[in-house]
Amino acid sequence: MSKDNPLRITALGSGRGSNIDAIYQEIQCGNLHAEIVGVISNSSKSGVIKKAKERSIAAFHISSIKYPDPVAFETMLLQVLDDLNTHLVVLAGYMKKVPNRVIQRYKNRILNIHPALLPAFGGKGLYGKYVHQAVLEYGAKVSGATVHLVDIEYDTGPPIIQECVPVYAEDTPDTLAARVLKVEHRILPQAVRFFAENRIKIAGRKVVITPSQTDV
Ligand code: GRF
Repeated sequence: MSKDNPLRITALGSGRGSNIDAIYQEIQCGNLHAEIVGVISNSSKSGVIKKAKERSIAAFHISSIKYPDPVAFETMLLQVLDDLNTHLVVLAGYMKKVPNRVIQRYKNRILNIHPALLPAFGGKGLYGKYVHQAVLEYGAKVSGATVHLVDIEYDTGPPIIQECVPVYAEDTPDTLAARVLKVEHRILPQAVRFFAENRIKIAGRKVVITPSQTDV
């Protein structure tokens, strides 16, 4: 993206919105040449919508209750993304499956943050605290976070960044979630930065990050 043409992000979330916040803060600090042009949530009461409104970011409530017909739902999502002239879609705590037509239209331009090291502890039903519960029940010694491209299945797209955290014997789902969340807040804006700097090259399942201008 050029200096006059910041990366236009539309973020989708369902809950408190701390990961969208982390991206917003990096933009505000001047560390990320991007703009959150819109936020979409399936819950009108979500922190995601509340914070967007406080920041004068366009906020959209698109849910399957409001749009029970799946075709109407995906048409609405596409229309909002297209109208916002979205370059990059960021799923940050978005609990719904993204319709196939959206994934096709925005191929390789949709990111998700998952609070574990994929492909472990991912897939349908493994979201939020259930992920951390599963990690602890398994007795894993490490967990972490993954930012990945989104394809038509849950949590199966190629990873862009992964980072580990230790799991301690005394951990609860909450303590582990808090440790992982700190990592999420760092690697999600980092992955967005790679897009903003046009440094992502995709070859099949391999995502290669090319060196930054300052590295060469
Ligand atoms: C994060 O842990 C994310 O990885 C998971 O749900 C949580 C959302 O948190 N999918 P927030 O809404 O970004 O605060």
